[in-house]
Amino acid sequence: MSAHESNYTPTSRVGKWFDERLPVARLMHGQFVDFPTPRNLNYAWTFGGILTFCLVAQIVTGIVLAMHYQPSAEGAFASVDHIRRDVNFGWLIQPMHAVGASMFFIAVYIHIFRGLYYGSYKAPREVLWILGVFILLAMMATAFMGYALPWGQMSFWGVTVITNLFSALDSVWAGLGTGITEWLWGGYAVTGVTLNRFFSLHYLLPFVIFGLVVLHIWALHVAGQNNPTGLDIKSKSDSVPMYPFAVAKDAVGLFAFLIVFAWFVLVMPDYLGHADNFTPANPLVTPPHIVPEWYFLPFYAILRAVPSKLGGVIAMFASVLILVFVPWLDTSRVRSAKYRPYYKIAFWFFVFTCVALGWLGSKPAEQPYVFWSQFFTIAYFAFFLVALPVLGLIETPKQLPRSITESVLGKVGGGGTPLPVGAAAAPEKR
Ligand code: HEM
Repeated sequence: MSAHESNYTPTSRVGKWFDERLPVARLMHGQFVDFPTPRNLNYAWTFGGILTFCLVAQIVTGIVLAMHYQPSAEGAFASVDHIRRDVNFGWLIQPMHAVGASMFFIAVYIHIFRGLYYGSYKAPREVLWILGVFILLAMMATAFMGYALPWGQMSFWGVTVITNLFSALDSVWAGLGTGITEWLWGGYAVTGVTLNRFFSLHYLLPFVIFGLVVLHIWALHVAGQNNPTGLDIKSKSDSVPMYPFAVAKDAVGLFAFLIVFAWFVLVMPDYLGHADNFTPANPLVTPPHIVPEWYFLPFYAILRAVPSKLGGVIAMFASVLILVFVPWLDTSRVRSAKYRPYYKIAFWFFVFTCVALGWLGSKPAEQPYVFWSQFFTIAYFAFFLVALPVLGLIETPKQLPRSITESVLGKVGGGGTPLPVGAAAAPEKR
């Protein structure tokens, strides 16, 4: 699986017997017990583990919900109500799944921003990053289809608005967009047929995500983890075994995350949802203000910022797909923003841009919101197409420590000339 050899030694006869036939324990020990982890990882690195927990929690709670849910236009809304009121622990499991989707997105956005800040997408971690982008796309599709399932007003109208976007392709080739839209619907309108196929795909996709996560972690264990300095592990003192060190830190991070998660589930389970979704779907009544879930709002703002329908759809998809090219758009030889003064400013402005777009996405499509959506849409793309390529060429990075160990313990053993600016973190294989 990776360059790291497992030093697993079975302690029992049964363990030895298995090890000679199917060395699963050896593999797990090598990858998750004695795997060398940089000694300086901070709490931003606990989000990979938190995300793994979120995925498993969504699958487990989802399977239980599917035992009681009815994927039909007539039964869906009432079946969710039935789960919350009558099913044993339904009051807990249904909000865990609904709030869990939001928590999953909070975690994945922090995970992505962490990657952008510390340059974790740079060589040799490009494939790991691109797999992450595919996971994000699959998560978005899963969440979108999941939101349709309670068949409330916002479910129905959200599906109607978003699936209708494909009809913009009619302006490319007459009939193409309408054809795709009707194929997605399974008819000439959003109906119970649409709901049923969304349920089927909503059940399937998390397992696709699971497969992608296995590849993601495999790619991570081939390249090894990045760290706050962006330097590679060069000596034994730069790393610690994953267990107990990184595992203990992950456990603390997960525990803190669970407190927030539990607070939402137990104290305000419906806060992150929309009031209109407590009214059953009605194709004859359009809600005054159709908005997606909070985690799609920045993309929704980009969609509406572009005056042409097709242009908006292209900009929205481009805003996610542009992430694929980040490893090649960034020209810097230094990975971590810690040592990149200009990039650090660009990064925080980018975070602000995403939050602003999220807020604007929740506002009606009128002035001054449209103007500001256009402004921040330009700022969003400028981060990728201007800041990433240009800053790497013009900025002078700060002095880097000689090693991960030195960044933690300070200069050890004295002496030694510091490395030339930018040298040590230059990704070796580009
Ligand atoms: C279900 C979603 C995901 C899961 C379960 C997951 C899991 C993990 C885990 C366990 C790690 C190692 C621990 C850590 O560095 O935090 C990791 C690292 C990483 N992930 Fe993800 N991930 C997910 C989504 C994503 C996405 C959407 C991206 C980017 C678009 C991404 C990019 C990365 C990168 C670049 C690393 C290496 C970080 C480093 O070593 O500095 N991941 N992921």
